[in-house]
Amino acid sequence: MALLKVGIFGTGRGGDYYSLFNNNENCEVVAVCDKSLNVTENDADGRFGDTAKFTEFDEFLEYGRKNGMNLVFLANFFHQHAPYAVKAMEAGMDVLSECTAAGTLKECVDLVEAVERTGRKYILAENYPFMTANLKMNEIVKSGKLGTLLYAEGEYNHSGSNEDLARLTPGKYHWRAWMPRTYYLTHAFGPLMFMSDSMPRYVSARSVHSKLLEKNTARKNCDGTAILFCEMDNGMIARFTGCTGMASDYSRYRVVGDIASVESGGNIGPDEVRLYYFEHTKPADEKENCRVIKADLSDFGEKGKRAAAAGHGGGDFWIVENTVDCILNDKEPFFDVYRAAAMSATAILGWKSCLDHGENFRIPDFRNKEDRDSVRNDCSTPFPDENGNGATMPCAMPY
Ligand SMILES: NC(=O)c1ccc[n+]([C@@H]2O[C@H](COP(=O)([O-])OP(=O)(O)OC[C@H]3O[C@@H](n4cnc5c(N)ncnc54)[C@H](O)[C@@H]3O)[C@@H](O)[C@H]2O)c1
Repeated sequence: MALLKVGIFGTGRGGDYYSLFNNNENCEVVAVCDKSLNVTENDADGRFGDTAKFTEFDEFLEYGRKNGMNLVFLANFFHQHAPYAVKAMEAGMDVLSECTAAGTLKECVDLVEAVERTGRKYILAENYPFMTANLKMNEIVKSGKLGTLLYAEGEYNHSGSNEDLARLTPGKYHWRAWMPRTYYLTHAFGPLMFMSDSMPRYVSARSVHSKLLEKNTARKNCDGTAILFCEMDNGMIARFTGCTGMASDYSRYRVVGDIASVESGGNIGPDEVRLYYFEHTKPADEKENCRVIKADLSDFGEKGKRAAAAGHGGGDFWIVENTVDCILNDKEPFFDVYRAAAMSATAILGWKSCLDHGENFRIPDFRNKEDRDSVRNDCSTPFPDENGNGATMPCAMPY
């Protein structure tokens, strides 16, 4: 019998995880909830079989409470995860949350305090660190071969035709129409934090307008990219994007030390990483000062082979594995609530920085009560509610 009875909230992205959970011998999806589900016709397209279906979160949670649901996967709107995470934890359930963890600084505090108060487990489902090439990079960085880490960079470029952007943005006030370019940073920044095992301390950022996006009818945010710059707690500098409209390769990462560097993406093939040494820092057992290494999921054992079929270069598979390990085997997930809140805060303060000519902001350490108090009432947001009200910040640079 499955030990984790999973409820999925939001069946777009959440639907991708339906079979990933059900294919894990420790998990079973017991309920799904989405206001767009046709419950009366009993899931006309049959995606969710006879799994219980709901359109209202509270009814879904109540069903879960009565039927042993112990894990909620949040894949609802990007900026609305924290309040639902708090509700699920208050109901005694653990939480796996899609990105971003929280839409405001206040919600970062609420989320962290809910985890501490309830003692429930919280995991951010940031999957890019677990893509095949990134796992290989991580292995190399962790081996210490690079020496002192000086610099890391990450890029996540995800553009689309006007039709694609419109399809992903159903409704005038949908989050994708109002999201500033710094906000979706977890795919560019998460892998850097993971590989270097570091936390952001200060952020400054700049955002830039795209002429092409003026033609985009579905969205109000016409910036093409934001570039964020962070001082990390290991002394390293990190430079990364949010989700961009830059005409460049899908994603790329680079970690640079004083002895060697390692990178993926760009001109380097899929599932490959490039390791570079100076001639004078090359170890005796390295023939070349620069070589491309093929990353193979079978390097990661039997589970690696199973990951090969999963989305995002195997990343989605490892999210389920890591979640099971965290809840059933008490293994701390890398993206715990403190790292998750730090990433959301970097996105929000990064945007404040863009609006203030690159002003430098200190990122709260959410383990620290004084730091929490400094942002406890900060509800600034660029996202309007479903009636178009409530946004307190612009979502793009003026042009
Ligand atoms: N990690 C990844 O690779 C990845 C990929 C895609 C999406 N995502 C994340 O997944 C989340 C969902 O994205 P998406 O692409 O599915 O698009 P989306 O945000 O448009 O879909 C959210 C779904 O949740 C439902 N929903 C929202 N609020 C609800 C409520 N109060 N009650 C009932 N249903 C509600 C909506 O009807 C919708 O179907 C976002 O946070 C996004 O960032 C992550």
